[in-house]
Amino acid sequence: MIISKMEEYYPPIKKYSIKQIYPWLDCLMDHLFFIFFICTSPVTKEYFYGYSQKIKKYFRGKEIFFLNSGRSALVLALSSLGIKRKDKVAITAFNCPAVIDSILNVGAEPIFVDINDCGGFDLSHLKKSIRKGVKAIIITHVYGIVDNIKEIEKICRADNVLIINDLAQVNSFFSKDINEFGSVQIYSFGPEKPIFSLNIGIITTKEENIATKISENYTQKTVSSADLASIFINRWKYYFTFFVNKYFFSLANLFAKCNLIYLFKDKKEDADINLYENIIVKKANPFQIFLAVIGIEKYRKRIIKTEANFMLLKNRLNAKVKLIVPESYKNIVPHYATIRAEKDRFLLSKYLAENGIATVWNYYPLYKYAAYSNVAGKENLSETDKIWRQVLSLPFRYPLSERSIIRIAYLVNNFYGY
Ligand SMILES: Cc1ncc(COP(=O)(O)O)c(C=O)c1O
Repeated sequence: MIISKMEEYYPPIKKYSIKQIYPWLDCLMDHLFFIFFICTSPVTKEYFYGYSQKIKKYFRGKEIFFLNSGRSALVLALSSLGIKRKDKVAITAFNCPAVIDSILNVGAEPIFVDINDCGGFDLSHLKKSIRKGVKAIIITHVYGIVDNIKEIEKICRADNVLIINDLAQVNSFFSKDINEFGSVQIYSFGPEKPIFSLNIGIITTKEENIATKISENYTQKTVSSADLASIFINRWKYYFTFFVNKYFFSLANLFAKCNLIYLFKDKKEDADINLYENIIVKKANPFQIFLAVIGIEKYRKRIIKTEANFMLLKNRLNAKVKLIVPESYKNIVPHYATIRAEKDRFLLSKYLAENGIATVWNYYPLYKYAAYSNVAGKENLSETDKIWRQVLSLPFRYPLSERSIIRIAYLVNNFYGY
């Protein structure tokens, strides 16, 4: 991996307030539901199955399929759209590794497109890339900033390019036009996603012929209770990793040896992705669908507070702080409040960590990982090459209070001397 300094790798994690990033309470509730589910499933099985019908009302009559993850949904969508070996699929290079993994899983060839100021497709580069014989594109709306879907649709329609609308990061669950855009729509609900749930992937489509193809390819394997238990264990291991790093840092190696926490890598090569993930596609467990319904209902209330928090943060940050705000769909609040810290990202994140504020940064350009460095061309990716070193996401979502938001904005302004 071509990352020159350790400081480009992680924000300082030791002083974080973990609860700003991970919803502990929700996770705890899910566990209680799970114990209930395991203990009662011989009698309540039908009750949980009922949720596979109930959830449909949220998707406005579209055909809908439930899977074990968003990446599985992408694999099934690609194969059902007829994408096969050697077909070209365009994505932005500034993206989640799971997206390129799904393309590689169907044997297709990824094409990297550069990004604009908001992390979306650079339209002129997209046009040029499409002329190389692209069959489909996956729009990922990085940071939940809705991409320029109208322009993208025009470009794709002119060359008969299929569109997969990947809404894993987008806060548009109740916005009809965004949720109907593209041949298929993909959702991923989970702890780091807009809708909290137990890792579920969803595909929807309005097109009957595509729905028929998806039904034909829909797997018979289903997420088992043992799979669910292992998701829970890994989730807690992850949370516990942060906890130990914050409060018992000197014991972290010991805990890691006992396999109780993950070890934060201290050599940059260790965190490289050397091989793409082999994605195992399974049908969702009815219990995951039940939790997804609960997640949607909670989201309905929480998004209002999240929107208000984003506006407050935006208004409180000095105008010279470069907060990335949506250009195309201004009314959809991003999932990450990301600023561009042009020179001193690490120092700013360190300063915020020392004041108890957790920050994160995503993404590394995909071509920097060993697994993807040779799978697609890297030319004309100048904006991607620039932005990835600058982005820093600040906490702002529900349940952060107004006071916390004002303090975060104050600290960022103060760091810059504004
Ligand atoms: C845009 C996007 N698509 C797909 C995925 C994959 O979702 P999952 O983690 O549920 O497999 C992610 C993962 O974070 C993502 O950010």
